[in-house]
Amino acid sequence: MSAQNTRVLSEGPEAIAEAARLILAGALVAMPTETVYGLAADATNGDAVARIYEAKGRPSFNPLIIHVSDVTQAADIGVFDDEAERLASAHWPGPLTLVLPRKKDAPIARLASAGLATVALRAPAHPAMQALIAAVGRPLAAPSANVSGRLSPTRPEHVLASLGDRIKLIVDGGPTAHGLESTIVALTGGPPRLLRPGPIDLDLAPMLKGGVEAPGQMASHYAPAKPLRLDASAAEPGEWLIGFDLVAGDVSLSPSGDLVEAAARLFDLLHEADRVAAPRIAVAPIPDDGLGVAINDRLRRAAAPRGDAADVG
Ligand code: TXA
Ligand code: MG
Repeated sequence: MSAQNTRVLSEGPEAIAEAARLILAGALVAMPTETVYGLAADATNGDAVARIYEAKGRPSFNPLIIHVSDVTQAADIGVFDDEAERLASAHWPGPLTLVLPRKKDAPIARLASAGLATVALRAPAHPAMQALIAAVGRPLAAPSANVSGRLSPTRPEHVLASLGDRIKLIVDGGPTAHGLESTIVALTGGPPRLLRPGPIDLDLAPMLKGGVEAPGQMASHYAPAKPLRLDASAAEPGEWLIGFDLVAGDVSLSPSGDLVEAAARLFDLLHEADRVAAPRIAVAPIPDDGLGVAINDRLRRAAAPRGDAADVG
């Protein structure tokens, strides 16, 4: 197994120390979990999270699963009701992801949960992933470590073939135990809903009445309350302009035109736009390549008439 700039280290103290060093420097590391390999980044670092979307070539910002060591760490990020606590104590650490209301001051980048009012949390059982979370001391955002639209990787060879030189380090834990992604349950008000079937066969027949929904589809993504105008090179009266590159604006997604920085700041600035006095929002043009495709996708949804905006693929 080789790729020019990608190291593959067998799991163990040396690999974890190197992975932690990279993660704290804002880089991405492919990690084994008991389900599939994940592409991990520091969930508190918006730029690092933006690099996940860049590496995967995701055309839009799907919310990511936040990996934590246990329910104590998770409770800083999501709001646990009795049912959430019960499921977590029964199945964590393990292949169960809980989608919960996001705590107001959750210590994670907004981009990690795609600006949503909810957050997906999972305490993985794999010892290497647990060791990395402990070594970093922060929650880790980690989608499956594949290029967008491809199958999830269950071996380090799959990661190498799919993401190759886009990542510096793959921690090799051999083939994964379950080989399919975690079960996802949403506990965000109303009856619990199974969003993705997975390794945990929840014997909770009543809870499944809501039916299975494709994850991501149901997510009503963040849209500002104010009208939003795209491709604005200057503010019109009453507009608060979010700039980019040479368009300065009242604030800027990235004065230097850096798409990673822009992605990391996008949801923060859209939230800020709702708080300022100006009744309308305008956003400078964003180039439609690389991460710009995902940024423009989200901006178009944010600008769409309400009702259309919640239709997310
Ligand atoms: O087993 C797994 O869950 C693996 C390992 C690496 O942990 N991770 C994984 O992540 O499969 P990913 O990003 O490939 O799939 C996560 C799914 C996405 O379909 C996303 O839409 C959904 O979880 N999701 C995340 N946050 C959500 C939220 N707040 N509401 C609804 N769906 C959410
Ligand atoms: Mg995936």
